[in-house]
Amino acid sequence: MQSLIISCILIYFLVSPTFCIRSNVPTEMTYVNVIDQGACGDGKNDDSKAILSAWQRVCGVEGPATLLIPSGKVFLVTRLQLNGPCKSPSVFIKFAGRIVAPTMDNWVGDRGSWLMISYVNGLTIDAQEGIIDGYGSSWWEKCTSCQRPTSLRFHACNGLVVNSLSMKDSPGAHISVNACDGAKFSQIRITAPENSPNTDGFDIAMSKDITIQDSTIGTGDDCVAINGGCFNIKATRVFCGPGHGISIGSLGKNRSHEIVEDVHVHNCSFVGTTNGARIKTWPGGSGYARNITFDQIILRDAQNPIIIDQYYGIKTPNAEEEAVMVSEVTYRGFVGTSASDNAINLKCSTLGCFSVTFDNVQIVSSQPTKPAYVSCNNAHGTVTNTSPKVTLLK
Ligand SMILES: *[C@@H]1O[C@H](CO)[C@@H](O)[C@H](O)[C@H]1NC(C)=O
Ligand SMILES: *[C@@H]1O[C@H](CO)[C@@H](O)[C@H](O)[C@H]1NC(C)=O
Ligand SMILES: *[C@@H]1O[C@H](CO)[C@@H](O)[C@H](O)[C@H]1NC(C)=O
Repeated sequence: MQSLIISCILIYFLVSPTFCIRSNVPTEMTYVNVIDQGACGDGKNDDSKAILSAWQRVCGVEGPATLLIPSGKVFLVTRLQLNGPCKSPSVFIKFAGRIVAPTMDNWVGDRGSWLMISYVNGLTIDAQEGIIDGYGSSWWEKCTSCQRPTSLRFHACNGLVVNSLSMKDSPGAHISVNACDGAKFSQIRITAPENSPNTDGFDIAMSKDITIQDSTIGTGDDCVAINGGCFNIKATRVFCGPGHGISIGSLGKNRSHEIVEDVHVHNCSFVGTTNGARIKTWPGGSGYARNITFDQIILRDAQNPIIIDQYYGIKTPNAEEEAVMVSEVTYRGFVGTSASDNAINLKCSTLGCFSVTFDNVQIVSSQPTKPAYVSCNNAHGTVTNTSPKVTLLK
């Protein structure tokens, strides 16, 4: 009888799935709630330490793990730095509460960033109801030219996924993506007043294979800025406005060598923006911006709907100077209104912009009585079915 029981137990363990799981890396999700780590969520006490300790648990788990920031609470965070690498190849943050920054007067220490996530691969942030409020109004007027923190920085996070995140009123830029390969942002909502200084939506640099889709961005600066060292960047169904448009650059500042390649801005709209599809480079820089496509773009009251500015940052162009080379730029399927008469403005350096394509671009002035016009210098390329009439060099 006893040996029968022992055999049964033995057989149970041999065939049991739990036995198999235990012998490998756990596959069951571990959840760590910031409240269980001492977060108050009352909007008054600093929850930075509690969130950090919850993160350290999550990051130390071998299998998949989720950091939970629950709904219905306000988490005051003075500063947060979530670092990897984590043990698990997939780490999750489920974020449903509200994270608020201290005001400028209560800010302590470094002003470079507020929330920073570094060296975490395979991170997914799901923020169905979560909102991050940077309290920028306490900075914008008092600190117009001093350093204001970027709210959320990702550095060296490969395979990042961010869904359904809302952000508002960052003191500086809202989201910075630096040295991340393969990141996908969906359903992001970013708002800040039109006159708030340098409150870029996304600032991307030194990164490849980045997608921003189905998002609404309205701030006081670029909706998306694509800076040096970026390859294969896609913005799809981004509603931009107010703001300064979707910009490549500025590139080549301070005589630097910078490269941006393979950008596709598709099915986006610019409403009440100061720019639409913009490429800006500083005189004296080097490198190139090439294979840049803007297509299926809807404009409403956008100033400078299409602009290449190779004299960015200076008032009067110098004589011959080096320039970041701009080529293979396509504008296809634009329709809508320009708030300025100058709907298309191509200020290429004397070295020229090459392989510029206009195809089915139809822009009229917002004021029905005024004709829209084009100004164009040193741009080479081809034009089909475009109004106002663009004449490019062969
Ligand atoms: C410009 O570059 C020089 C030399 O690399 C450097 O010393 C200077 O700090 C830079 N200035 C700015 C504004 O970045
Ligand atoms: C241009 O960029 C797109 C991505 O936006 C890419 O799919 C395509 O292969 C690139 N074309 C060339 C000629 O490199
Ligand atoms: C653009 O996106 C809208 C939804 O925002 C969709 O209805 C439309 O079909 C898309 N157009 C193209 C050309 O992809």
